[in-house]
Amino acid sequence: MEAIINQKFTSQDAIDLEDKHGAHNYHPLPVVLAKGEGVYVWDVEGKKYFDFLSAYSAVNQGHCHPKIVGALKDQAETLTLTSRAFYNDVLGPYEKYITEYFKFDKVLPMNTGAEAVETAIKICRKWAYEKKGIPENEAKIIVCEGNFHGRTTTIVSFSNDEDARKNFGPYTPGFIKIPYNDLAALETALKEENVAGLLIEPIQGEAGVFVPDEGFIKKAAALCKDADALFIADEIQTGIARTGGLLRVCGDCSCENKCEQQATYTRPDMLILGKAISGGVFPVSAVLADDGIMNVIKPGQHGSTFGGNPLGAKVAMAALDVIYDENLIQNARKLGNIFRERMEKFIATSDLIKLVRGKGLLNAIVINDSPDSSTAWDLCVALKENGLLAKPTHGNIIRFAPPLVMTEAQLHECCDIIEKTITDFSK
Ligand SMILES: Cc1ncc(COP(=O)(O)O)c(C=O)c1O
Repeated sequence: MEAIINQKFTSQDAIDLEDKHGAHNYHPLPVVLAKGEGVYVWDVEGKKYFDFLSAYSAVNQGHCHPKIVGALKDQAETLTLTSRAFYNDVLGPYEKYITEYFKFDKVLPMNTGAEAVETAIKICRKWAYEKKGIPENEAKIIVCEGNFHGRTTTIVSFSNDEDARKNFGPYTPGFIKIPYNDLAALETALKEENVAGLLIEPIQGEAGVFVPDEGFIKKAAALCKDADALFIADEIQTGIARTGGLLRVCGDCSCENKCEQQATYTRPDMLILGKAISGGVFPVSAVLADDGIMNVIKPGQHGSTFGGNPLGAKVAMAALDVIYDENLIQNARKLGNIFRERMEKFIATSDLIKLVRGKGLLNAIVINDSPDSSTAWDLCVALKENGLLAKPTHGNIIRFAPPLVMTEAQLHECCDIIEKTITDFSK
């Protein structure tokens, strides 16, 4: 065993090992990364790349951020895990920190995004039975077509991605699916009996970075309020500065955490966070809500061995500090505008790319080819050859989501690579 831990492998060795010994539940781009720093990653052979995916928006603060890694190291040498059988001296301070940061009464700490979504679904149902008076087992939650909220059996039950769903049934009932960005459909669904809430991504990331109409989120939340249904925002991918506000429900607003005063702000009844809450250093996720909702959860009704562990709690505080320390909200907004402006100019000259869309530094280009063609994949392989890593998402779409610590000069360098790659590809 010692031999394999210390042995040096080539990229091809590493790919072969994964292929032979790992489940084939992903289809990675053929690049084997060995090191990361800021906006850069390096492969096993030492080739340097711009990371234009940021681990699906988990590494917003950049790879191996010294403040976050420092917090990890300090806490790792002190206390890593107690379980919630006992108190630990970091969880309470973290809970105070994060609830003040996002302005909710309470947090329920978990580890992964899907777990946090499951948590929100459980809380919503319990609230519906105990506070709204919905008859037991009758609660329904509205979700949107094209959603991506994770991979558990309940979550895939309301997915309409066949790969995610097929042969994983029987499916969990209690969900109503409506088209995304459709207020009329939402209004109709909210009139159904026993509706407990709406679970929604303020921008659909996995589906291909679908940005709803201006004002949609605000109006959707207002419709939920009128119907006494909880408005649950899944900001696992869009949150933590990614889309040019602290959260996407903040709109394009970079206020110093005084969101409630902003006209653009929509306050969710429940907020779901994950990914960049820890800067990609440790799995940390969270559900935030006020007492009237969160207090339906009592001892023994929900939890996780690792949820609320001191290591994750310390890491998350450092990662959230970095957002304001380094003005990442403003940077994401500024660079996002520059990126879309440059891409729009370029697309006007390119037959291969149809459009660019997004907010802040969560963007996508849509390729002018059949959704079933391999063009997006082939382009990503060509981008990799030219030193930039991105990944296709559903259909023929490439998502672009670099770390938010990128400089303007680096962004222009990346745009040069993208434009050159697409131009050469089209020849
Ligand atoms: C909006 C959204 N919700 C939930 C998840 C699931 O998070 P995790 O992969 O940590 O379970 C993701 C992951 O991409 C996501 O983008």
